[in-house]
Amino acid sequence: IDIKTLRAATEGVITIDPGYKNTGSCESAITFLDGEKGILRYRGYSIEELAEKADFLEVAYLLIFGELPNEEQLEKFHSDIKKNSVVDDDIKKILDAFPKSAHPMGVLASLTSALTSFNPSSVNVDSEEDMYNAIVKILGKFPILVAWTMRKKKGLPFDYGNSSLGYVENLLQMMFKQPNEDYKQNPILVNALDKLLILHADHEQNCSTSTVRITGSSHAGLFVSLSAGISALWGPLHGGANQAVLEMLEGIKEDGGDTSKYMAKAKDKQDPFRLMGFGHRVYKNFDPRAKIIKVAADEVLGDLGVEDPILDIAKGLAKEALEDPYFVDRKLYPNVDFYSGIIYRAMGIPTEMFTVMFALGRLPGWISQWKEMRMRKEPIGRPRQLYIGETYRPFKEMSKR
Ligand code: ACO
Repeated sequence: IDIKTLRAATEGVITIDPGYKNTGSCESAITFLDGEKGILRYRGYSIEELAEKADFLEVAYLLIFGELPNEEQLEKFHSDIKKNSVVDDDIKKILDAFPKSAHPMGVLASLTSALTSFNPSSVNVDSEEDMYNAIVKILGKFPILVAWTMRKKKGLPFDYGNSSLGYVENLLQMMFKQPNEDYKQNPILVNALDKLLILHADHEQNCSTSTVRITGSSHAGLFVSLSAGISALWGPLHGGANQAVLEMLEGIKEDGGDTSKYMAKAKDKQDPFRLMGFGHRVYKNFDPRAKIIKVAADEVLGDLGVEDPILDIAKGLAKEALEDPYFVDRKLYPNVDFYSGIIYRAMGIPTEMFTVMFALGRLPGWISQWKEMRMRKEPIGRPRQLYIGETYRPFKEMSKR
């Protein structure tokens, strides 16, 4: 049954579904997810194969344009992105004006929105060519915003890195290069970061992606729609979970490392505490991304020779939860963000930057979903409601209130 016929047949009927647990907001050909079986595929390709065989830019191309690029297409895509890997000097001034204590997600959302003012042609994108230009612009500029947001936090001067490097290598260089020192790439870190970004690249109609689609459905520009998505991602029930997981693990460590105490807290219905990094709206089985990330975390910690008690606490919690009837009955498994923070921490990325890294990974997904929504000429998003407030009330004069 097509959507028009369905809509005509249900005219006047409003479904109430807070959190849209059972409501589809669109038809999409980008990401396939089977939460019961723990399957995730981008454009039909399994996440396991993509993480093993492709790099982040290839996956970005796949998500946005629907096919894996051949060598020539990938080279052109990368070269167009590199041409746009620069930001207006006034963006530096805006970044400078933020207090050092500002949360990087707030900074990133503001800067992404501010980019519109310096690139007004990215707003009215009616042709595929206009869309392409806006897309390579943001893919070029976003890593700079990410890296510089971290440099600002660390008090380092801004750095454009080296454009002859790969996308992820240059991101690392822009983030970590110290003034007057060469930055030595570590292939294990490059590989782990590449994997993390691929695993975060899309996840169908989650909170931030739905926000990007609904914002863009008013024909607001791409960059502001992305900025709205960044704000949605910030929350601890969504992308902010990776920061929340690390903070929770640190809290458990400081409290003596007793994981059972926190398991009990998570199960106590009078206690609002939740085990961060566990549970998922759609996965009722192992999050397939968590499995891949766990292996990458072991590799990175092994290579860097890091012995992190936090990792032992994480492993202990995961083991206990997988055997606990409360978690088993509710199908609460570790999600993608349970292990990602451990890798970011080992790489030297500050905890407050974790969700920013997630945003960079999710960028191609948001772009592809926004592009799909525009190309399918979807109507403006405008849910209905069931009004439960007062009916009519005569106005009450100030003296009588
Ligand atoms: N710890 C303890 N109990 C939990 C947890 C948790 N992490 N997650 C869910 N539950 C319990 C709920 O209390 C509820 O129990 P009840 O049936 O006895 O009332 C049941 O499991 C179902 O939970 P809901 O909140 O209804 O599930 P929902 O689909 O709305 O929420 C969510 C999913 C937000 C991810 C939730 O599991 C959660 O808060 N997890 C922790 C935060 C987190 O890790 N978020 C990252 C998600 S992944 C991502 O966005 C990239």
